Amino acid sequence: MTKRYLDELLNGVDILADSGNLHVEVSGVFMDSRRVQSGGCFVAIRGFNENGLNYMGDAIARGAASIVFESDPEDTIPDMPAYVSWVQVKNARKVVCKMASVFYPGMAESLDVTGITGTNGKTTIMSLIHAILSRRFKTANIGTLGMTCGDTFEKTGLTTPESIDILRFLNRVREDEGCTHVVMEVSSVALKLHRVNCLNFSQGIFTTFTGDHLDFHHTMEDYLDSKMMLFRKLGMDDWAVINIDDPTGLKILDQVNCKYLTYGFSENADIRPMKYKFTLDGTQAAVRTPRGIIDIKCKLIGRVNLTNILAAVASAVIKRIPEEDIAAALGNFGTVKGRLDPVYNGKFAVLVDFAHTDKALEGLLVSLKEIKANRLILVFGAGGSRDKTKRPRMGQVASLNADYVVVTSDNPRKEEPTAIVEDVVRGFGPDFKQYSVETDRRKAIGKAIRMAQKGDIVVVAGKGHEDYQIFKDKTIHFDDFEEVRNVLEELNLIESKKVKNA
Ligand SMILES: Nc1ncnc2c1ncn2[C@@H]1O[C@H](COP(=O)(O)OP(=O)(O)O)[C@@H](O)[C@H]1O
Ligand SMILES: [Mg+2]
Repeated sequence: MTKRYLDELLNGVDILADSGNLHVEVSGVFMDSRRVQSGGCFVAIRGFNENGLNYMGDAIARGAASIVFESDPEDTIPDMPAYVSWVQVKNARKVVCKMASVFYPGMAESLDVTGITGTNGKTTIMSLIHAILSRRFKTANIGTLGMTCGDTFEKTGLTTPESIDILRFLNRVREDEGCTHVVMEVSSVALKLHRVNCLNFSQGIFTTFTGDHLDFHHTMEDYLDSKMMLFRKLGMDDWAVINIDDPTGLKILDQVNCKYLTYGFSENADIRPMKYKFTLDGTQAAVRTPRGIIDIKCKLIGRVNLTNILAAVASAVIKRIPEEDIAAALGNFGTVKGRLDPVYNGKFAVLVDFAHTDKALEGLLVSLKEIKANRLILVFGAGGSRDKTKRPRMGQVASLNADYVVVTSDNPRKEEPTAIVEDVVRGFGPDFKQYSVETDRRKAIGKAIRMAQKGDIVVVAGKGHEDYQIFKDKTIHFDDFEEVRNVLEELNLIESKKVKNA
């Protein structure tokens, strides 16, 4: 690999102060001190909970030869060994993006990148587009479930990882797998923190917009503005794909300066379903596109997923993927782990879902109401230590759409589970009595499944693919799928997978 030097990576960057040899070789750029390798450059950012400066010692101990850190000009410079070259900058997040694109050159030119932003549906749409594009191109995907391309997989802690991690991965799969296309979830937080500055998007997709993440963005305007950043990046030859069933979609449409396709159930959407049928086995639809009608069969369940399918079809139509490929990719598509994901479909049905906002919960419940034969039983809770305003709204949506609700814990984090439950219950209307409270999620799931009768749908919402539960003092292994299966086994509705000692 070509040798890279600190001064080259920082070319054009405003430097407040520096020390040592800036023409020092850089073996890699790291934002997490635990990943630093010998000869690496550690970039210390001021995070929301932690200051990277506190990890400088750790980075140096692991062999960092240079440090880039951010602080105000009047701040005192931290002590560092003389052999370490350091550079002080104003905004290390912007700088790291710049460094990443010099370290891994040619990315913006050689990769075709589709970004998906919005409150709900990103992971599902990303997975669908990945399946379609993969029929023609070597495609990478980046999102909540990790970064994947062919046989290469990397776990990520964030929906949109840090710029340097994205580029390191993409560089690797470009070389090892011949990757040419990328489809990724772009969170509003990532946009605001310049994590995707180093990528060149050819398509931006908007899903839905509601008040999640207000703990980070504080106001809806700021949140919306962050999402708009993706669309501002698009040039005249690029494409926006916009859900016009969501009023925010229309606002975005007003502001885009690129080509666009709209999708949704609305009559004037460019991509919309003419006929459709929802069952627990999946969705069938005749989808109108500017290239004619495409008949679709897909295992994904319900109205919200048809919306997601429309977004994926729009994206594929723009990329000139043949209709047969689109239909075949959707036909072969399984489910997205933890998104309207059926665990059992027998006498009654049990699904696990990731809805953890009021809008997602509403989409989920409305979708299932359209399918159910009998009652809709919901198990859910709201997460602790994050946006509290959504709790009563989630309660309200639950009471309006479910026939019975077991209110339980999600990830209580630093809060008392009972206090969170109270906030949720406050959203139930005064006449809604069809609920019970059980803060122990295992017991709550058991209760809901045990009360299910023929034709009922039980949906366990909020945690989806997660396999942990976060409490004040500990994080435990907890997997909704396992819990559901255990209860079904106890009820002899499914066969035990456990090895029995004879
Ligand atoms: N188009 C949609 N509109 C509203 N809710 C949706 C939509 N798609 C999915 N959901 C709900 O949101 C949850 C999260 O979906 P996911 O695809 O993981 O979105 P994201 O990546 O944006 O969080 C799903 O479990 C489902 O309940
Ligand atoms: Mg996601």
